[in-house]
Amino acid sequence: MTTATLPPGPSAPRLAQGVYALTVPLRGLRRLRDRYGDAFTINVPIFGRAVVISDPAQIKQLFTAGAEVDNLEPNLGRVLGPGSLFALTGAEHRKQRKLLVPPFHGRRLAAYEKIVEDETVRELASWPEDREFATLPSMMRITLGAILRAVFGAEGAELSQLRELLPPFVTLGSRLAVLPITKVDLGRWSPWGRFWIMRREYDAIVERLITKAERDDLDQRDDVLALLLQSRYDDGSRMSHGEIADQLLTLLTAGHETTATTLAWAVERLRRHPGILRELVEEVDAGGSALREATILEVQRTRPVIDMVGRQVKADAFRLGPWTLPKGYTVVVGITLIHDDESLFPNARAFDPSRFVGAKPDLYQWIPFGGGTRRCVGAAFANMEMNVTLRTILRDFSLTPTAERDEQWHSRGIANAPAKGGRAVVRRRAPQQAPAATAAGARS
Ligand code: HEM
Repeated sequence: MTTATLPPGPSAPRLAQGVYALTVPLRGLRRLRDRYGDAFTINVPIFGRAVVISDPAQIKQLFTAGAEVDNLEPNLGRVLGPGSLFALTGAEHRKQRKLLVPPFHGRRLAAYEKIVEDETVRELASWPEDREFATLPSMMRITLGAILRAVFGAEGAELSQLRELLPPFVTLGSRLAVLPITKVDLGRWSPWGRFWIMRREYDAIVERLITKAERDDLDQRDDVLALLLQSRYDDGSRMSHGEIADQLLTLLTAGHETTATTLAWAVERLRRHPGILRELVEEVDAGGSALREATILEVQRTRPVIDMVGRQVKADAFRLGPWTLPKGYTVVVGITLIHDDESLFPNARAFDPSRFVGAKPDLYQWIPFGGGTRRCVGAAFANMEMNVTLRTILRDFSLTPTAERDEQWHSRGIANAPAKGGRAVVRRRAPQQAPAATAAGARS
């Protein structure tokens, strides 16, 4: 039997460590890193004993490991369905991922830019001038509309129905995923009862979208649903309708709020950095995109909306750097910890997009999308979406800078959002004679 060797860590009881982790989540982890170094062991409720890492070499080792580690025991499968990428591990996960990755490949994305711009213009039409408001609800509507049209291929009645149904459905689902209440349907007034009513409604709408798509010439369609209907597993079989419904819901849950909160952070950051804001506006007017792309990378470095990703040791032991972790141990990658490491990002607490102009971020140091076989499927889509949305906002509105304090982090369950929702004061700009711009290059 291999002997476990674990990094050092606090010896306080599990509950006390849990309370500390929950009440001072960001500062708490930073303090532990400062005290114990870039690998330490914690003992918290839900994860149990877990090793938190933030060293790029160890992160690379974890992300590129084989079957000896896999996703954390999936809880999300309870609400997203058994076919969801989040619910699958091992060979089943690889099989589904093989079909889900190609529709999000960088070269396909140009087809979706128009949809994102349309959704943004539609939403911006209701933005008030000279009055402070939170931008997060707008960003949520933009990213919802973009996913429903580009991923679900929804238009007309189904699009309206999904716009209504999905926000409360996903909110309820993400609560049920973490609450320790039984998965019993106690009628329409119980949480699971309400959940199943909404799920049946969702399945019926997706079934109608599939029927419509199958009547269309699928070759003429670019949406992810149409691509999934044409895809085949290695043995030549097709995805079942149930699998497609589960995966579309997964893509929406993973991609809607994460992208919206990052955009709200972009507004929050830019209003506090007027020099960068001015340069961005000049760049938009000149039809450029390099600084905007770098800004999006820097927003994600300094305000990663998912602050950690985890894996579980499946082999009897897993060697990670100098440590040997036993089976069942959780390894948590501290995204915020590595993103504010001075040795990797000099002057790390400063918001400085110029560090990414003309420089591609390192895959094991800049990790807002996680990494390895579980890296975010929608990373390139999200970057395109944020690029087009930001470009449209800067083209059509002036954002008024502010000297107010930074907005604090606020956990919304799935993503960490600016606590006041990325508040903005805007004024509509006179129409610009802007050169035709594309989001090309905003691929990751
Ligand atoms: C700024 C926006 C986004 C952020 C910050 C983000 C972040 C992440 C992170 C951290 C993971 C876990 C990676 C890991 O465990 O290593 C993930 C997984 C995933 N994301 Fe994203 N995501 C974003 C947008 C999207 C979009 C737009 C989609 C799809 C339309 C999407 C679909 C997925 C899926 C399906 C997975 C699961 C991958 C798997 O388990 O194989 N995400 N994302």
